[in-house]
Amino acid sequence: MITLKNLTRFWQKGLVRNLQTSSVLQHDALFVHRDTAEDNPDIKFEFTPENLKRVDAILSIYPEGHKRAAMIPLLDLAQRQYGWLPLSAMHTVADILCLPRMRVYEVATFYTMFIRKPIGKYHLQICTTTPCWLRGSDDILSAIKTQLKINVGDTTCDKMFSLSEVECLGACVNAPMVQINDDYYEDLTTNDMVEILHDLKCGKKPRAGPRNGRYASEPLGQPTSLKSDPPSPGFGVRSDL
Ligand code: FES
Repeated sequence: MITLKNLTRFWQKGLVRNLQTSSVLQHDALFVHRDTAEDNPDIKFEFTPENLKRVDAILSIYPEGHKRAAMIPLLDLAQRQYGWLPLSAMHTVADILCLPRMRVYEVATFYTMFIRKPIGKYHLQICTTTPCWLRGSDDILSAIKTQLKINVGDTTCDKMFSLSEVECLGACVNAPMVQINDDYYEDLTTNDMVEILHDLKCGKKPRAGPRNGRYASEPLGQPTSLKSDPPSPGFGVRSDL
């Protein structure tokens, strides 16, 4: 009979192959809420007067009867104000939108950009999906771990940096890349990564974007295609048409 114990023995002897072979991403480790000292419904959350004006502006975009569509912008605003998204902020958003709290939990737990636990001042999200991996994201990740002395999912003791491993961030043509808060740092080498972290530690704002001299995602060096002027309208069309 196959019992869990037997299965474990087979696995230890290499007789059972692993079905899951990809690494476990830890950027969104908190799947179930448990009340803690820093995150419980008794902690008060209110939008600042300045952000309340933003709340009104956001709500005004959506027609009557469809105000719930403002949920993601409001959650984002709450996260930007608080640094991360505590339960009480979700409740405030639910109250503003006159929705059951569950509707807000559903959204806040679905999108990984909503951070549901305390996080460092700088949130490093390293992409390790195939294009970035082929271009050396493992080396960039090692450089971050060595520099900050933390693993994926951890925050440094001084609460300055948190490290997450994420799926494709849509900048594959500038791989490897890292997102830090709202900025993308692209075409990275390990030296670039060390320099960026050093600048952040010194309170400087490193220049975002590609680090290899490109302006955006154009070819490095001379163009290799689309080098001549495009043909004018009517090119290649039969003269009798
Ligand atoms: S694979 Fe890294 S940004 Fe797309």
